[in-house]
Amino acid sequence: MSPIIEVRGLSVVFDGFRALDGVDLTVERGELRFLIGPNGAGKTTLIDVVTGLTRPASGEVLLAGRSLTGLREHQIVRLGVGRTFQTSVVFEELTVLENLDLAAAFRRPLLSLARRRRGVSETVAEALETTGLAGLADRPAGVLSHGQRQWLEIGMLLAQRPEVLLLDEPVAGMSRAERERTGELLTSVARDRTVIVVEHDMEFLRRYASQVTVLHEGRVLAEGSVEEVRGDPRVQEVYIGRRKDDAVSAGS
Ligand SMILES: Nc1ncnc2c1ncn2[C@@H]1O[C@H](COP(=O)(O)OP(=O)(O)OP(=O)(O)O)[C@@H](O)[C@H]1O
Ligand SMILES: [Mg+2]
Repeated sequence: MSPIIEVRGLSVVFDGFRALDGVDLTVERGELRFLIGPNGAGKTTLIDVVTGLTRPASGEVLLAGRSLTGLREHQIVRLGVGRTFQTSVVFEELTVLENLDLAAAFRRPLLSLARRRRGVSETVAEALETTGLAGLADRPAGVLSHGQRQWLEIGMLLAQRPEVLLLDEPVAGMSRAERERTGELLTSVARDRTVIVVEHDMEFLRRYASQVTVLHEGRVLAEGSVEEVRGDPRVQEVYIGRRKDDAVSAGS
C-alpha cells in the first residue's frame, strides 16, 4: 500500500530565499504526524505547498500516489486534503452550525446544494459530535472561547470529509485543559484519517505524538519518535536559547 502523502525533493524559493530546500517526507495512512522546528523553519510553507497555496520551485507532492503538481487549492480539497490556518477563519456572526454547514457545502455537489435539505446533515452532525460543540450549535461563533474556536475550525475541516488534515499550531494559546481535549480530539480524528500537525509544545508532543519530523532552515533535520528527536544533538542545538516551552530538552 502506498503512503498517503509523499513529498519528494521539495524546494520553495521566495525572492531568492530558500524557504524549503529539498524536503522529503513520507506519511502513512492513519498517522498522527507532528511537524516541529524553530520559527521560520518552513513548517507553514510545507503545508502551503501540500494544499496548493504555494507553488514549489522544484519537487512534488503525491497524494496516494497521485501528483498534486499544478492543482489548485479547491481541487486539492476535493481530493480529500484539508487544512487549518495559523490564524482563525471562522465567520463570527454565523452560528457554529452555520459555519459547519458552509464548510460542508464546499464539497457538496451543486445539485444537493440546490435541493437543500432542512435539518442537519449527517456530516455536520458528526463534526458537532466529534468536536464536542453540539451544545453550542446555535451560538454565534463570535462568542466561542479560543479553544472552542479552534475545535470549530477542526470541525469545519471534518465537515469537508478529508482523508488528510493539516493543522497549523492548533493548540497555540490554549489552556492546559483545552490542549488535553485537543490532543484527544486529534487522536480520535487520526483513527480513520491522517493528521499532520505543526506544534511546538513539547509536553503536548510527549503525550500525543508517535512520529515527529523536525524542520530547520527549510530542511528535514531529524525524524523519529519523540524520544529519538529529543535525544538528537542537532535538534537540541537548534532549540538552544529558544522559549523554555519550545526547548526540546525541557522537562521530561
Ligand atoms: N510569502 C512569503 N514571502 C517571502 N518569504 C516568506 C513567505 N512566506 C514565508 N516566508 C519565509 O520563509 C521562511 C519559512 O516561513 P514559514 O512561515 O514556513 O516558517 P514556520 O516554520 O511556519 O515558522 P513559524 O514557527 O514562525 O510559524 C521564513 O523565513 C519566512 O520569512
Ligand atoms: Mg508557521
